[in-house]
Amino acid sequence: MGIAEELSALRSKALAAVEMADSLDTLESVRIAYLGKKGSLTAVLRGLGALSAEERPVVGQLSNEVRATVEAALADKRRSLQATARASRIAAEVVDVTLPGRVRMPGKSHVIHQVVDEIVETFVGLGYQVAEGPEVELDYYNFTALNHPPDHPARALQDTFYVRDLSGERAVVEGESDVLLRTHTSPVQVHIMETQKPPIYVLAPGKVFRRDVADPSHLPQFTQIEGLVVDEGITFGDLKGTLEHFVKRMFGEDRRVRLRPHFFPFTEPSAEVDVSCGICGGEGCRSCGGEGWLEILGCGMVDPKVFGHVGIDPERYTGFAFGMGAERIAALKYGIPDLRLFIEGDTRFLHQF
Ligand code: PHE
Repeated sequence: MGIAEELSALRSKALAAVEMADSLDTLESVRIAYLGKKGSLTAVLRGLGALSAEERPVVGQLSNEVRATVEAALADKRRSLQATARASRIAAEVVDVTLPGRVRMPGKSHVIHQVVDEIVETFVGLGYQVAEGPEVELDYYNFTALNHPPDHPARALQDTFYVRDLSGERAVVEGESDVLLRTHTSPVQVHIMETQKPPIYVLAPGKVFRRDVADPSHLPQFTQIEGLVVDEGITFGDLKGTLEHFVKRMFGEDRRVRLRPHFFPFTEPSAEVDVSCGICGGEGCRSCGGEGWLEILGCGMVDPKVFGHVGIDPERYTGFAFGMGAERIAALKYGIPDLRLFIEGDTRFLHQF
């Protein structure tokens, strides 16, 4: 076969290979195979030197044409492959702007924490300090030092979680005091008065535990906030004024406060505190059970017998204490009918707050 035939056969083969290339990578290897340094067309051109003087310009021109044709075909094919690649990339990346977005649910503080924080802030604003006490407590702090007689019903097994040791016996510390889960935050009063001298202005929030079955108004574990003030010349009027300030801050300026005589072993006198119903304003409606008032906390003047346990001179100092349930306050503030909602962890409920 003469060199001219060889060239035109090469052109057909090259054009066919270009046509068949289905990706930019294969197209590039076709280019290298024919036009590269070691390519077939390049090899033919190397042979030009062996041709006669008449043949050389003819074959030279022909090979230039072949080269130009193959290059043009390569360029066309490259453009069309690039366009296809781009079109399929765009198709793959298409964004459906009509799809609903993904809703992000950032974490947030639990509503009970929010309520505790709000109460703490109110009292910190009055100069109170925040304190904590142990959740696993001794009978001495939970009951005895708070003037509960040995046969007080709250000490009974059906009301209090007692801690058992590894042998299954009731755990006892120092041979005398039972270990239990505190049933209220009042034992923190005793810890504070044992370790601090008056003046004392303290708020103690924390978990408490009672052997109750969860129902709309009871939880076996809930949150209390204890307040304790011990100073010279503290009166029941100070207690009342403090609680009125707190209630108006928490529930609104239009709410009223009512104190009803009550009994707690560690305060004397004692009272339960009601807030006027936010729905009927005190008239009586379904939401307050026709009463017009809702109970929110217990309080009283620190009993001198408690001062006796902690070595504070009752002739010089007087004090008041109060304790409230955060879940109950939150339920009243937000109109929640069932306390169990606070502990179920349903984010559809919790994200409202
Ligand atoms: N500890 C009491 C209770 O849990 C509440 C209380 C606290 C009452 C402080 C008086 C003073 O019911």
